[in-house]
Amino acid sequence: MAAATEMAVEPTQMEEHAEDMEAEEAYSAYCHVSELEQHGINRKDTEKLASAGFCTVQSIAYATLKSLCQVKGVSDAKAQKLREIAYKIVPSTFTTAAAELEQRQNMVQLSTGSKELDKLLEGGIETGSLTELYGEFRTGKTQLCHTLCVTAQLPLDQGGGEGKAMYIDTEGTFRPQRLVAIAERYGVAAEMVLENVVYARAHNSEQQKELLKQACSLMSEDRFSLLVVDSATALYRTDYMGRGELSERQMQLAQFLRALTRMSAEFGIAVVLTNQVVANPDGMSFAKDATKPIGGNIIAHASHTRLQLKKARGENRVCKVIDSPSIAESEASFSVGPAGVEDAKE
Ligand SMILES: Nc1ncnc2c1ncn2[C@@H]1O[C@H](COP(=O)(O)OP(=O)(O)OP(=O)(O)O)[C@@H](O)[C@H]1O
Ligand SMILES: [Mg+2]
Repeated sequence: MAAATEMAVEPTQMEEHAEDMEAEEAYSAYCHVSELEQHGINRKDTEKLASAGFCTVQSIAYATLKSLCQVKGVSDAKAQKLREIAYKIVPSTFTTAAAELEQRQNMVQLSTGSKELDKLLEGGIETGSLTELYGEFRTGKTQLCHTLCVTAQLPLDQGGGEGKAMYIDTEGTFRPQRLVAIAERYGVAAEMVLENVVYARAHNSEQQKELLKQACSLMSEDRFSLLVVDSATALYRTDYMGRGELSERQMQLAQFLRALTRMSAEFGIAVVLTNQVVANPDGMSFAKDATKPIGGNIIAHASHTRLQLKKARGENRVCKVIDSPSIAESEASFSVGPAGVEDAKE
């Protein structure tokens, strides 16, 4: 609970939460890679693994042998051994639907800032999976990401995730002063909220992917509940141009998204990624929607939950659930104001 003392919550609430074993379990699910030293792996190797982005035993258990062998100094035999030990610590076994249901009922969800929107999402943005926000410019994608950076830090009973937030910005639209305004709305200390948001700017798609290694390292040392990538696709779109580079772009994007999926499971964090839309040439004038999200099937399949944001009257916006494993296609209204995402205005 080291990180918890820095969280934007009152000390009395923190003490209460320290005793909340369920909450504790939700976060301490992962096991640092240095644990392997107790099983005959030497420190040099665990350090090498960590710097290659394998910071937890889970990440080794979830990795293919091929990707483990890509770590400098890891032979086929060592990769096998690492995996054997990782499987012992993190066994992959069948469970019953009943046990899975109980587990899901304990799942932490992050409030969006709007009651209607939280209701639509049956609680908020899920931890442990990927949520994609797509829509035209000014639809509130970035504002929702900023709001989540604050709610991610709130106590569980206030729709929070009691963790830090991480923000990968590819568009240069991260504004810490927005966090200050949102923190005030929730009555939490702005300095603490700012301290608990880790920020990095990516200037090309390779850097964007490389940042995930550092992200894993930070997450294995501290409690995070949210990772934002705003936008996940923009740099891939400009780094790979035209049809000739399309398959390479999709492959790189798929690898990036796969790493995010792994991190969401490994650290139990909510991963929120934004995506722009382009004109939909297939639809022509018959299309209900003249735009479509970037990234094609690759991003459609990687996102567990896809949300489309649309403009409505004034500050109001509409969020539509496009794809979700558990929510029917439906909509809710919200608004974007000085204090982030709020309920829709009349
Ligand atoms: N301080 C503020 N007070 C009130 N409303 C604000 C404030 N800052 C931003 N907004 C609202 O948020 C809108 C921008 O939303 P946002 O930046 O989230 O769009 P986006 O969907 O991320 O767009 P893009 O695709 O261009 O990144 C502005 O048009 C404005 O209506
Ligand atoms: Mg934006």
